[in-house]
Amino acid sequence: ASTRIPLIAGNWKMNLDHLQSIAFVQKLAWSLKDASHDYSDVEVAIFPPFTDLRSVQTLISADKLELAYGGQDLSAADSGAYTGEISGQFLAKLDCQYVIIGHSERRTMHHETDEVVAAKVAAALKHGLVPVICVGETAEDLEKFGPSAVPVSQLKGALTGVPADANIVVAYEPVWAIGSGQAATPDQAEAVCAALRAELASTLSDDTAAATRILYGGSVKSGNIAGFMREPNVDGALVGGASLDLDEFSAIVRYKR
Ligand code: G3P
Repeated sequence: ASTRIPLIAGNWKMNLDHLQSIAFVQKLAWSLKDASHDYSDVEVAIFPPFTDLRSVQTLISADKLELAYGGQDLSAADSGAYTGEISGQFLAKLDCQYVIIGHSERRTMHHETDEVVAAKVAAALKHGLVPVICVGETAEDLEKFGPSAVPVSQLKGALTGVPADANIVVAYEPVWAIGSGQAATPDQAEAVCAALRAELASTLSDDTAAATRILYGGSVKSGNIAGFMREPNVDGALVGGASLDLDEFSAIVRYKR
């Protein structure tokens, strides 16, 4: 059996301002503290907008909440003339543990290539952040190249220059499943996640492949999470829309019960 601790992550995207984030995190912590459940076997992380991170840090550290958090992106550069960018060292200073890199919305809307993604992964590792590397194929890719080719090649690109023992998370998010209400089936997710793990083994090492968590993302809800989590190569979920609904997100975290 795998020793990987499942990770349930909420990508808020451009939702919840800093005041809303405080109220949301307080309620989330309350609902996860529910004494009748044990959450020691699952890690929960949230990815709020940059402008929320200082408030989230203050709240989580003051109340000693068992909630990880991170940015939704970072700059490949450390500082300087990069108007509008946020660097890995800023995120590290806010005690972020994670940072999402290469989300399909950034690949399409901000033209992030595999090279850009690799440079951002290197920047994250340099500052002690765990990159959550997102990969996934469009519906067109799926038809043209089959299920695993594009995600595997995106992962290969993202791992350029990454040390063999790097601490990373991979998220498989088929673009056609994001925000569409049409999730992949657990079988589909498992097949791609297994191919991604094989890629980790050949590019990094067997040990790193065995230790790395691979998440599924794309229309994850409380009603379909358990099916994904039963798959041997799916180690958690990256949740978009449903992470903004307190009851839904708590229910996803409690997928076992
Ligand atoms: O990063 C998570 C995301 O892209 C999935 O979004 O709304 O389909 O859960 P959603």
